[in-house]
Amino acid sequence: MAVATACANIALVKYWGKRDASLNTPAAGSLSLTLDRLRTWTEVLREPGLSEDVLEIDGKAVTGRPVERISRFADLVRGPAGDQTRVRVRSHNTFPTAAGLASSASAFAALAVATSDAFGQSLDPRALSILARRGSGSAARSIFGGFAVMHEGSAADGSDAFAEPMQGSTIELCAAVAVAKAEEKKVGSTDGMELTKTTSPFHQAWIDCVNRDLPVAQDLLRSGDIMALAELVEGNCLAMHANAMAARPGILYFRPSTLWALEEVRTMRAEGIPVFFTIDAGPHVVAFTPPEHLGTVAKRLAGHPEVQDVLTSGPGEAAHAAESMP
Ligand code: DP6
Repeated sequence: MAVATACANIALVKYWGKRDASLNTPAAGSLSLTLDRLRTWTEVLREPGLSEDVLEIDGKAVTGRPVERISRFADLVRGPAGDQTRVRVRSHNTFPTAAGLASSASAFAALAVATSDAFGQSLDPRALSILARRGSGSAARSIFGGFAVMHEGSAADGSDAFAEPMQGSTIELCAAVAVAKAEEKKVGSTDGMELTKTTSPFHQAWIDCVNRDLPVAQDLLRSGDIMALAELVEGNCLAMHANAMAARPGILYFRPSTLWALEEVRTMRAEGIPVFFTIDAGPHVVAFTPPEHLGTVAKRLAGHPEVQDVLTSGPGEAAHAAESMP
């Protein structure tokens, strides 16, 4: 039996598009901050009596696509280990699952650590990042704590598409996540990216935009120019969503509370609070701000009837093995 924990991450420069869907390599790099408050705990048990892999999330048995996904993922470890034993996976999230809140990032990062441990495979962080990427592209970044940069790579086998810690930021960021009242997300990231890549007239322009934004964002984190970083991160997020909206049929993740929160963040910035937003594949708004402003920002973001909760978080640590489930 092996247990691991990993934190989700939220991208400042976003991943939206694949180079090779079968290896799950991204079409461009990305940059994220791992967040302590959004955490997955996962236990992997090799169970010789099982004929199929079994998945439980937060105490509930799960069937269908998520089980197929973890089964295919476990095969990536079982193959090299020469051990075809089925697994029982128990997973617990400290935040709402699959509502566009980066749950696949922490899930597959924790699963990479726990599955490789359960099959006696000792992998270094780079190999773990490559393995986690096969489960979910954003999970490659959750192997690391703090800021992480994902390299898109160019190798045909995906061996150079991994994340690494980004060193040298002089800006310390926390996040307030305005969780919108919502169902599970309607178009998941994997399907959304595929539809965008094949039908959006803006897709190549988006990839070019990421390639320009990625080095600049890292320079701004290092030089400490938070207001310039704010413009860049918001612009990158809106470009990603503009591209998804331009797919046919258009993918629209925003809800009324999403637009309200964007305005609220920009109002706070106009008042002099260094804060900026980003949005993943769901209606929730993440506001990044230095620790001294987190309380104010969180309070302000709670002021809409469709915001059901505001989660606050500091930077998270790297994915790692644990003694037992919490
Ligand atoms: C909008 O990593 O969930 O959160 O690789 O298909 O599993 P798959 O996609 P996923 O996509 C994340 C998309 C995003 C942006 C980001 O995290 O960079």
